[in-house]
Amino acid sequence: MIVSIYYTHCICRRVKFLSNYIFKRKKSISLSRNRVMFVFFLNKIYILLHPNFKLYKTMYKTVGIIGLLLIIGINLTITAQETPGWARETKGEKEKRMAWWTHDRFGMFIHWGIYAVPGRHEWVKQRERISDADYQKYFDHFDPDLYDPKEWAAKAKAAGMKYVVLTTKHHDGFCLWDSKHTDFKVTKTPYKKDLLKPFVDAFRAEGIRIGFYYSLIDWNHPDFTFDRIHPGSPSNPEERKIANEKRDMKKYQKYMKDQVTELLTQFGQIDILWLDFSYPGENGKGHQDWDSEELLKLVRKLQPNIIVNNRLDLSNTDWGWDLLTPEQFMPKEWPTWNGQRVPWETCQTFSGSWGYFRDEYSWKSVNQLVVMLVETVSKGGNLLLNVGPTARGVFDDRANERLEGIEKWMKFHNRSIYGCTQAPEGFITPNNCLLTYNPETNRLYIHVLEWPFKTLHLPGIRGKIKYAQLLNDASEIKFWSNTQEGGSMTEVSGANDVMMSLPVERPNVAVPVIEIFLK
Ligand code: GLC
Repeated sequence: MIVSIYYTHCICRRVKFLSNYIFKRKKSISLSRNRVMFVFFLNKIYILLHPNFKLYKTMYKTVGIIGLLLIIGINLTITAQETPGWARETKGEKEKRMAWWTHDRFGMFIHWGIYAVPGRHEWVKQRERISDADYQKYFDHFDPDLYDPKEWAAKAKAAGMKYVVLTTKHHDGFCLWDSKHTDFKVTKTPYKKDLLKPFVDAFRAEGIRIGFYYSLIDWNHPDFTFDRIHPGSPSNPEERKIANEKRDMKKYQKYMKDQVTELLTQFGQIDILWLDFSYPGENGKGHQDWDSEELLKLVRKLQPNIIVNNRLDLSNTDWGWDLLTPEQFMPKEWPTWNGQRVPWETCQTFSGSWGYFRDEYSWKSVNQLVVMLVETVSKGGNLLLNVGPTARGVFDDRANERLEGIEKWMKFHNRSIYGCTQAPEGFITPNNCLLTYNPETNRLYIHVLEWPFKTLHLPGIRGKIKYAQLLNDASEIKFWSNTQEGGSMTEVSGANDVMMSLPVERPNVAVPVIEIFLK
């Protein structure tokens, strides 16, 4: 009797261990059959070495069968994750669909909603645990009387931004357009008018591509269940469970589909859909909660050329996203997926928060922002740089200053950004520099972050340069190589290196750029 209890206990422990391992892995990006086999192998050794070997032998058979069934199950899951018919697209087709985006490199993110009224971060409702009733005052006082999207569009254009992504709805659920499916929308505020149509028209008129951000999260919708980040969530798990019984994510899924349908059918061609965000795991939400596959299918049907980000919790597929979205950090190198470099876009703020935050004092300098843009492109990525307009409907001075600084730089240097990417294999980045490269024109751009005295040493580039100039004024930069030691007054380069003669005075721009015409 004791033996059989112990035996059952052992089986349970083994099965628990295996299933824990497998199911934990299943969520992660790279589930591989090899890993599962590896666990079985470990399991086998553990059993062979165990003093109770005989007992384990029988147990092992049982576990083996269960394990086999699990493997079959996993294989079925893998098969089920194969690209659905509607999502099939060749690599070339995808590249073509994304060509304008890959070329343009620089976009404006805009976070705007009633959270601009408190002016304390777009998550203010969550951070301060504000009840629906108390949050209502921001709705009741939202009246952006100075809103002029033409002015916004002109600023974005001047700064060299080629696309825009606006929060049509953020996590608080407030909608910037006259959605048929809710009353929590701008047309019911004192402002009364739709904000979105004039926005789209103004940006389009400037030749800027249109992107909509749509929050998957909704802290206002009565069917959106309480979870670990919901500001209204009861902290007691039992109470939360009871409260959630009245909520129905199926209904919320329908609401999202209806709203996304409005967004993708009433405003002409939409170039980007930026869905935000998934937080799977305990008391979180992921693809099953959003019905991600069906949502994406709808999106692709309504706007076949649209570009969609990667926050639907479909990251373990290669069809459920178009780009990676590192947020508020600079990846150390071009991000990869399954060993391949993939399209990516870092989204960044001026000051830390996305929505208008009056009292935030962590604003980045123009110089930092320009370097951020260059560094992004030097790693083959895009930059989506955010502005959080005020509740009056304007960009505040601090944002304007930065946009103007970027404009000043972009006016003379956008050639090192548009159409550019990481320098080809073999090019070595000189000290304190960042390289970008335009494959169309075969030009290399050296962004000199720290201006050296007189000579810039370029390792390994000898014989590859046809001509070089400063980009800000198109003035020639002479270059030469010299391997002969000639005493105290002779500069020497390595055999494959080049020395560039720089003016002693650094050009008066945020980041000076040398344009190299390659042979
Ligand atoms: C995060 C935040 C959000 C912001 C977004 C931008 O997901 O929740 O406030 O909109 O990032 O990337």
